[in-house]
Amino acid sequence: MSYNYMTAEEVAAHIKDGYTVGLSGFTPAGTPKAVTLALAKQAEEEHQAGKPFQINLLTGASTGQSADGALALAHALRFRAPYTTNPDYRAAVNNGEIDYEDIHLSEMAQEIRYGFLGHVNTAIIEACDITPDGKVFLTAAGGIAPTICRLADEIIIELNAFHSKNSIGLHDVYEPLDPPYRRELAIYAPSDRIGQTFVQVDPKKIIGIVETNLPDEARAFSNPDPVTDKIGQNVADFLAADMKRGKVPSTFLPLQSGVGNIANAVLGALGQNPTIPAFSMFTEVIQDSVIALMREGRVRFGSTCALTVTNDCLRGIYDDMDFFRDRLVLRPSEISNNPELVRRLGIISINTAIEADLYGNVNSTHIGGTRMMNGIGGSADFTRNAYLSIFTCPSVAKGGKISAIVPMVSHVDSSEHSVDILVTEQGVADLRGKSPKQRAQLIIDNCAHPEYRPLLRDYLLHAGAKRQTPHAIGAALGMHVTLEKKGDMRLTDWSEYL
Ligand code: COA
Repeated sequence: MSYNYMTAEEVAAHIKDGYTVGLSGFTPAGTPKAVTLALAKQAEEEHQAGKPFQINLLTGASTGQSADGALALAHALRFRAPYTTNPDYRAAVNNGEIDYEDIHLSEMAQEIRYGFLGHVNTAIIEACDITPDGKVFLTAAGGIAPTICRLADEIIIELNAFHSKNSIGLHDVYEPLDPPYRRELAIYAPSDRIGQTFVQVDPKKIIGIVETNLPDEARAFSNPDPVTDKIGQNVADFLAADMKRGKVPSTFLPLQSGVGNIANAVLGALGQNPTIPAFSMFTEVIQDSVIALMREGRVRFGSTCALTVTNDCLRGIYDDMDFFRDRLVLRPSEISNNPELVRRLGIISINTAIEADLYGNVNSTHIGGTRMMNGIGGSADFTRNAYLSIFTCPSVAKGGKISAIVPMVSHVDSSEHSVDILVTEQGVADLRGKSPKQRAQLIIDNCAHPEYRPLLRDYLLHAGAKRQTPHAIGAALGMHVTLEKKGDMRLTDWSEYL
């Protein structure tokens, strides 16, 4: 079949007010850029003409400025799921403009299939190649592409020459059946493959192909600082000690690690630790640091949903496919983050908290309990099911005015039942086999900042020691209230709340 080659503006004009649009990609990796920008422009023009124009946007995870950023600035989003990191989008969500459903990333594709997110009108897919019979070769991420391609009425392809055709073969595309017909996923090691290297679509649904040559929009991370370095070191030392104690097998276990500076520091420290053998990753996002460790032989294999790397790093991978072809696999998010696989493979998960409480409950998403930061992402897909679930964070934020260790978190994303280890730059609290009361002592002694330890110990005195989970309910969010009223949690006076 021959396809229609069109401009981004021409093809975007097919998308109407009220449409539900699905995008390929996961993080800015693999996300369309040209058609979403054209769509934002179209929305602005419609608004200037006094007409409504908003879409519902479904993706694998976050996107780049050309999608979430441009569409939020154009007031073109009505509803959005499952995750974003974009500051313009965040502002629009927190001023009440966009309805945002924050969903576990492993569940996104099936939520769409189950029909919980409405009918998908259009799928916009970034590809590095397409065949006349509808074999679509994705770029740097798996995301929800197979599902939205199958369900959408119409498909738009952004054929992006920036992504080398050398990368063909990296993907392992597999879409499970829905219950009661779903079968086990036959993946017993991170490198196992169960699917195809392409997404098969019905070529008749492709309404247009837009040719582009656009780099990915991955964020640059700031340089490591002493706090993130210390957190990384603490995690590496803890895992090395757990291995020596026989808790982690001497072959080590596959690792999931989040994105960002702390994750980079943790991976760097693990890579340098001579006790820890070369390991595999079973994760949703691979960053530059992992690629460097692969080249050094410290990471043996990486199963991921996305290559969220800098463009130089991505080019390096494409130029060196003889090396990387047998060391990387890109999967759809419902496989990369699949709870069945995380439990079976015995993953060590490492994610970042905004705040944690004295009992190990973790808030990853909300500032002050009400303002959305990014979303839960894949953190709980891994945390709930991992062999060992680690959360990291600096012990304080905003120059010490905020303690990341609080009596009660202002929002719960991963509960005490799922969190095994808490790590700050101060130290490590190993919560395994500990009652809530034992956990509270450990977390204060090992993880809280010294400036906050007396305040937290005082809280426990007021909370009383008899209950299973001690709390002085009226004071449980007292540090948050003090922050709102006086701008500094250190000024908390428990007597005001008791
Ligand atoms: N209260 C208020 N603000 C806080 C805070 C707290 N307890 N803790 C951190 N912050 C602020 C920081 O000061 C910083 O503010 P700034 O942007 O104005 O400088 C901001 O929150 C981000 O903190 P930072 O320490 O830079 O964190 P990060 O970039 O490592 O991100 C999360 C941390 C939790 C937001 C991020 O990891 C996330 O979105 N996680 C959920 C998704 C996830 O885990 N996915 C799975 C792996 S990909």
